[in-house]
Amino acid sequence: MSSSPVGASREPAGAGNHPPAHDDLEEIELSLLLEGVFRQYGFDFREYAPASLRRRVWRRVFAEGLQTISALQDKLLHDPACMERLLLDLSINVTAMFRDPSFYIAFREKVVPALRTYPFTRIWVAGCSTGEEVYSLAILLEEEQVYDRTRIYATDINESVLEQARAGVFPLDKMREYTQNYIKAGGTRAFSEYYVAKYDGAQFQRSLVENVVFAQHNLVSDRSFNEFNVIVCRNVMIYFDRALQDKVHRLCYQSLMTFGILALGAEETVKFSPFEDCYEDLDANERLYKKVK
Ligand SMILES: C[S@@+](CC[C@H](N)C(=O)[O-])C[C@H]1O[C@@H](n2cnc3c(N)ncnc32)[C@H](O)[C@@H]1O
Repeated sequence: MSSSPVGASREPAGAGNHPPAHDDLEEIELSLLLEGVFRQYGFDFREYAPASLRRRVWRRVFAEGLQTISALQDKLLHDPACMERLLLDLSINVTAMFRDPSFYIAFREKVVPALRTYPFTRIWVAGCSTGEEVYSLAILLEEEQVYDRTRIYATDINESVLEQARAGVFPLDKMREYTQNYIKAGGTRAFSEYYVAKYDGAQFQRSLVENVVFAQHNLVSDRSFNEFNVIVCRNVMIYFDRALQDKVHRLCYQSLMTFGILALGAEETVKFSPFEDCYEDLDANERLYKKVK
């Protein structure tokens, strides 16, 4: 274990792996670590909501067998593999197929008719994690017979989750829950038609990702890369502070065509963002907004 490089004024992290009491020194160490991560690797977590950031950084400190945030900073800067592990800790990847089934019902009823009015459409799934949301959307679009004229761009900051998304193998023991979600989401076939069981995984049909491009993209530091009919950015901004949320709202706004649709997570809204007036509610409950100016 490394010894603490900081002054003696603070107790080292407790043996029970609990973060020490929050203090000014910790704040300095945390902000230096985030600055170092940004300058060395380009990942900008400087404006992430501090409480959850702090918890996750301390979890990584302990997991690496260290005692202080400064020690973690030293290791991170010299060891890209350690950075990759921190990235997994920081970018909370929780997701599910047909998560919030009522969202998918609203998508079928209110977004798909808009998509039908175009000969070709582009959908951006930003913060797609391991891909469950992308496969769900592809299934829905396929059932609504608009998949053939859709291109989905699925992006995430984290390359390792994208690799899983490309593979399209999800835990077999989740299929019961996902089948229930699919039925509640208005699915029209037998869910099992979409996958084959392979060891303890369910391999989803490759045709579902025929029109999908998976790519790394950082919503905080990268630019817009296209103009989209629909942007699905769900459960990503909840981890950001206000300034960062505004940044992502700006990017979404700039990347949507006029009358394009923005889909956010159940805890997220365009209300109180600088772009509030640029959208109309398409379904406020399901966080679907139409860009009107
Ligand atoms: C909780 S998951 C949401 C997954 C999916 N959208 C859903 O709702 O089920 C949040 C995802 O956002 C990604 N993420 C976090 N910060 C990001 C950033 N700055 N740019 C792009 N993706 C980011 C994480 O890697 C993670 O996969």
